[in-house]
Amino acid sequence: MRFLRTLLVFVTVAVAGMALLPEALAYVSAGKDPATAYAPLETPSAKTFDVVARRFSFEPATIEVTQGDRVRLRVTSVDGVHGLGIRKFKVNTLVPRGGRAVTIEFTATEAGTFPIVCSEACGDGHADMRGSLVVAAASK
Ligand code: CUA
Repeated sequence: MRFLRTLLVFVTVAVAGMALLPEALAYVSAGKDPATAYAPLETPSAKTFDVVARRFSFEPATIEVTQGDRVRLRVTSVDGVHGLGIRKFKVNTLVPRGGRAVTIEFTATEAGTFPIVCSEACGDGHADMRGSLVVAAASK
């Protein structure tokens, strides 16, 4: 009897653990580290942009794509640490100092103009360090 009860508890825990697994994986892939979260997803057909982050701007400040595009941003800081965030597409990536490029990939699923922000405190002009992602509606 006691064995059965122990077994039942074990099975219950195992089933609950498996139910939580997809959520745990989703959490990991939504994490901040682009090297691990995004690199394996690199798509050959992605529209690629090289973006330079500096105090206190992104260059280019405006990135234009079309709805449905897979978008890849290769972001490099020419000074200190910055971040690149596009809330709409759950992008939030640290851009390290030292010129190492970080790669961000996402799919522009919705048309519109979305703010690109610096998501890491980087000095007096941090709040002004902004850009725009312009997603044109797909033609039908
Ligand atoms: Cu760059 Cu905050």
